[in-house]
Amino acid sequence: MRFEKSIRKFNKQHSEITKRWLKRQDRDPFVHQAKAEGFRSRAVYKLQDIQQKYGFLHTGTVVLDLGAAPGSWTQWCVHQGCHVVAVDRLPMDPLSGATVVCADLQDDSAQAVIQEALGGRIPQVILSDMAPNTTGHRATDHLQVMALCDLVLSWALMMLPVGGCMVIKSFDGSETQDFLKACRRDFDRVSRYKPSASRKESSEFYIIAQGFRGSPAQADVP
Ligand SMILES: C[S@@+](CC[C@H](N)C(=O)[O-])C[C@H]1O[C@@H](n2cnc3c(N)ncnc32)[C@H](O)[C@@H]1O
Repeated sequence: MRFEKSIRKFNKQHSEITKRWLKRQDRDPFVHQAKAEGFRSRAVYKLQDIQQKYGFLHTGTVVLDLGAAPGSWTQWCVHQGCHVVAVDRLPMDPLSGATVVCADLQDDSAQAVIQEALGGRIPQVILSDMAPNTTGHRATDHLQVMALCDLVLSWALMMLPVGGCMVIKSFDGSETQDFLKACRRDFDRVSRYKPSASRKESSEFYIIAQGFRGSPAQADVP
């Protein structure tokens, strides 16, 4: 009884948000294009745009796609002839030509599970479109996505071969410059880019780091 009014208010606000989201989806040409072309998400057009500008995917490239669900980046990489290991903490429908793994990158067990899925292959490209559950509070969302960026960078330093490439989604904020600086220590070319399919009102952008210089461990190998 005491909570009835607040529950009604919450439900009303929630249905308004859902209505706004549905309206935005309906007006979005990328949503319609993705449906028409058989892609699982409009996000595919961000990767296509990034690839067109920076060109790091080739036939036979081994790709580790982090935060892959529902799977449009994986679909497109497979179309390009890449070998893909796709990872998400949410279950993702299987995709012919890719190995799909359900794991949370922030769990300690993730590394072993992913290494097993790679089966000895070394990824030349690590993609991360991972996004935290956003709160709408810009600074908080930025810090949460930066924690994921740090994690992906540490994976890249551990796994990429010399010359490898990393693409990471980020949200602009106070830590952006320091993170770009950290990437520049280990990669020859580091760029930030906002693809045309990335919504204007969002602080989202992508970091493209190319030409990995090699980890200290690799330098020790004679
Ligand atoms: C924007 S979606 C990715 C869309 C995807 N690139 C596509 O083309 O379909 C972001 C994904 O990141 C995943 N994600 C967020 N944090 C994660 C984590 N810690 N470990 C694994 N996946 C995560 C979410 O579950 C979500 O599916």
